[in-house]
Amino acid sequence: MSASARSDWVAAPGSALSGTLRASGDKSISHRAVMLAALADGTSRIDGFLEGEDTRATVAVFERLGVRIEAPADGVRIVHGAGIDGLRAPDAPLECGNAGTAMRLLAGVLAGQGFDSTLVGDASLSKRPMGRVIEPLSRMGARIESADGCPPLRVAGVPRLHAIDYALPVASAQVKSALLLAGLSAQGETRVREPHPTRDYTERMLRAFDVELEFGPGHACLHGGQRLRATDVLVPGDFSSAAFLLVAATLVPGSELCVEGVGMNPRRTGLLRVLQAMGADIAVREARETGGEPVADLVARHAPLRGVEIPAHLVPDMIDEFPVLFVAAACATGDTVIRGAAELRVKESDRISTMARGLRGLGIAVDETPDGATIHGGRIAGGDVESDGDHRVAMAFAVAAQRASGEVRIGDVANVATSFPGFEALARSTGFGLRGA
Ligand code: S3P
Repeated sequence: MSASARSDWVAAPGSALSGTLRASGDKSISHRAVMLAALADGTSRIDGFLEGEDTRATVAVFERLGVRIEAPADGVRIVHGAGIDGLRAPDAPLECGNAGTAMRLLAGVLAGQGFDSTLVGDASLSKRPMGRVIEPLSRMGARIESADGCPPLRVAGVPRLHAIDYALPVASAQVKSALLLAGLSAQGETRVREPHPTRDYTERMLRAFDVELEFGPGHACLHGGQRLRATDVLVPGDFSSAAFLLVAATLVPGSELCVEGVGMNPRRTGLLRVLQAMGADIAVREARETGGEPVADLVARHAPLRGVEIPAHLVPDMIDEFPVLFVAAACATGDTVIRGAAELRVKESDRISTMARGLRGLGIAVDETPDGATIHGGRIAGGDVESDGDHRVAMAFAVAAQRASGEVRIGDVANVATSFPGFEALARSTGFGLRGA
């Protein structure tokens, strides 16, 4: 699954960034498209599928569960759905690699099956909290054993789940989605409420697969016992991947870069609003809808940034963009204050401490708090940083290096392939100074 060989990058300022490119497929939507297509009756075609290690792990899991999935071309999957009751008992543990989304959503899919299964992950995923899905799924009648709330998860077969009405203690699209997927095979009405609205891809896509459900910002509800009908899915570009290129173009003088076909679901684009408040020049062009999701082309030009306080209500809308926001803040004039973002500590790495430590190593003052940080804008120096195997941290430091006064060596970058395969070559083609070490 996740690349095991360690590799490093050496990055330094290249040229002004320019060009027009396409963001790779959205990771969250690619995972869900495979899952729902696998559970549907009939054959679905997925276009724009992210060829990342995380999303390929999801495909491999469903193949092990007896679903036939063809890959006729890069970015395309044809999924021959097994139906909601058609998955087969796996003959080996189900390997989720680095993918938290795969493991948490699969826990929901597997919780109500009549067979036993085990979900395993890599070293990073094996440290991430799973109690947040185990607890509500257990209330629905699931039997899941873990290693102190962490993977592996041993899911025992049960005859039937029952629906619950659940208020999530932490805003999490993964937990919400796990419960909705479990709810599909539960008796009664499953209702989920969130403390802050999170990405609603599962809800939108369930509807596209002909499931009746009610949802709005912060809540969703469906009746068990429904069947899914196959449909084709067109996956938009991933805003989270585009974010690295947009921030880099903002930071490097003389840059103008266009990223086409970027998913613009408002639950994902909080960073755009924050960057614009910091003074960024990012234009939204050709706003349109593809496959039921808002999509646009984004054009970023260099602009000086000033520090801001991030409103806590925006945190879920930019939860994956904090590593690169730390970098934008480091290059801004004044201070940037982040609060209410304790979830960053349980991502692929503890993103508050990985980013704070790395930026300090490059001469930027950062004060850490339990749920955020204050970043004091300054001048980025050369030096060595560790990504702790975290794909988004690695790419964020590649962006930081484009404004550094010397070379930045970034350690342990192999996991970039989990979400943005080809980042290194693509970034270099726009003008990044970036190479393997
Ligand atoms: C995701 C939800 C978020 C996000 C993750 C993908 C999803 O996680 O950080 O990268 O696809 O539902 P949480 O649900 O833990 O906030």
